[in-house]
Amino acid sequence: MDKMQDAIDLLKAYNQEHIIKWLDKLEEKERKELINQINSIDFHQLSELYQSTKKEIEIKENKIEEIKYLDKAKLTKEQKEKFDTLGEEAIKNGQYAVVTMAGGQGTRLEHPGPKGTFKLDVYGKGKYLFEILAENLKEANKKYNANIPWYIMTSKENNEETCKFLEKNNYFGYDKESLIIFTQGELPLIDEEGKLLIGKNKKIKQASDGNGGVFASLRTSGALADMKERGIKWVFIGGVDNVLLKMADTTLLGMAIDKNVEIASKSVVKASPSEKVGVFCKMNGHPKVIEYTELPEKMAEELDENGELKYGESHIMCNLFTIDAIEKISKETLIYHSAHKKNSYLDENGKEIIPKEPNSYKFEAFIFDAFEFFDDIAILRGKREDDFAPVKNKEGVDSPKTAKELYEKYWERNK
Ligand code: UD1
Repeated sequence: MDKMQDAIDLLKAYNQEHIIKWLDKLEEKERKELINQINSIDFHQLSELYQSTKKEIEIKENKIEEIKYLDKAKLTKEQKEKFDTLGEEAIKNGQYAVVTMAGGQGTRLEHPGPKGTFKLDVYGKGKYLFEILAENLKEANKKYNANIPWYIMTSKENNEETCKFLEKNNYFGYDKESLIIFTQGELPLIDEEGKLLIGKNKKIKQASDGNGGVFASLRTSGALADMKERGIKWVFIGGVDNVLLKMADTTLLGMAIDKNVEIASKSVVKASPSEKVGVFCKMNGHPKVIEYTELPEKMAEELDENGELKYGESHIMCNLFTIDAIEKISKETLIYHSAHKKNSYLDENGKEIIPKEPNSYKFEAFIFDAFEFFDDIAILRGKREDDFAPVKNKEGVDSPKTAKELYEKYWERNK
C-alpha cells in the first residue's frame, strides 16, 4: 500500500496524474508492476529532459577547432612497428577486452530482429553480422595466442532474442567462458507535453538510453568488475553493424599506449559534407564528436587550407578506453539528446493511438559525449576501404549491398 501511495505522490508532484487513473483500472498483478515501474523512474531527471527538448542545440563555433590525428598510411615503418609491438604485447598479456554494442533498434534497416542477427549476403551462403564480428575476434585470438573477453551489450527489448540466437549458433565458435552478455538501461518516452505514455502492455513506455548507456551498464551489470578480475587494462568498444570493423587493431592500441592517453579512436575521411557520420573536433580544448544530426551545414562544408573538409575526421564507432577511463565515465552523467519520434500509446479509454506524425521524445546518451571528460584523445586515421562498411539502411548508401561489395573486395585483397 505504501508503495502505491509513493507512486501516487510522485505522479502528482510531477504532473503525471493521467497515470493514476491507470492504477485504478488495472488488475492486481499489472498494478503492482506499474507501481514498481513508477517508483523506479527518476522523475526529476525526466522533467529536466523534457525542458531540454525546448532548447536549441548551441554550437559556439569560435570555441571549436579541428582535431589532430595520425594517418595510419603515413606512419614510418619504425613508428608502425613500435605501435604494433606495444599493442600485440598488451593483447598477448591478456590486458585487452572488446565490447560490442548491440542494443540499437536498427529501424532504418527494417530487419525484424536484433541487428546482429541480420545475414549479409556474402560468398553465397551469407554471414550474420554477429558471425562476422566473431570471426574477426577469433582470428585475433589465433594470431596473438590470446583469449580476448568479448562483452555484448543488448537492450531489454532484444536481450532474449539475442541470447537465443547466439546460443542456437553455438556462439559462432567463440569460447563461451569469454563471452559475456549484459543489458543496457532504459528511459521513459514522453509526449510533447512531457507526459508519460502507456503502452499496449499497460506499462509506461520506455526505450534504450542510447549507446552512451554502455558505461553505466558495464558497471551496474558487473561486467566492469569482471574485466578487472581478468586483469584487463584496455577496452575496445565498437558497434554491431560495421562489417570491416577491426576489433583488435594493434596499431590503434599501441598508439594509445605509446601516447599515454586514456582514450583513442579510429577515423576515416568523411566521404562528403552530408555523409551521416559524427565528426571529430576539439571544443573548449576537449575532444568532441558532433553528431551528423547536430552539425550545422556551414560547419559541415567548411574547408581547411588544403581544400579538405575542416571537420572531415569521421567517427566510425571504433573507440578505445583504458579501464580507468571506463570506470570514471560510468560515474558521470552524460548529456542526453532528444529525438522526436512516432510512438503509439493507449489513450485514457484504453484505445490504442497510432500517430501519423512524431508525437513524443526519446532520450539517448551518445558514447562519444564521454570524450569531453578528457584533455586528449589519440586518433588514428584509417582507410574507408579497410575499416568502414556499415549496414545502416535497407537500400542505397550504407546498405547491405554497399557493405557486401566493400567486404568482398577487402577479402579479395587480403586473402
Ligand atoms: C553512429 C554514431 C555516429 C557514427 C556512425 C558510424 C552515435 C550516437 N552515432 O550513428 O557518430 O558516425 O554510427 O557508423 O554513436 N546502440 C546501442 N544502444 C542504443 C543505441 C545504439 O547499443 O541505445 C548501438 C547500435 O546497436 C549500433 C551503434 O550503437 O551498434 C550505433 O548506433 P546507431 O543508433 O545505429 O547510430 P548511427 O546513427 O548509425
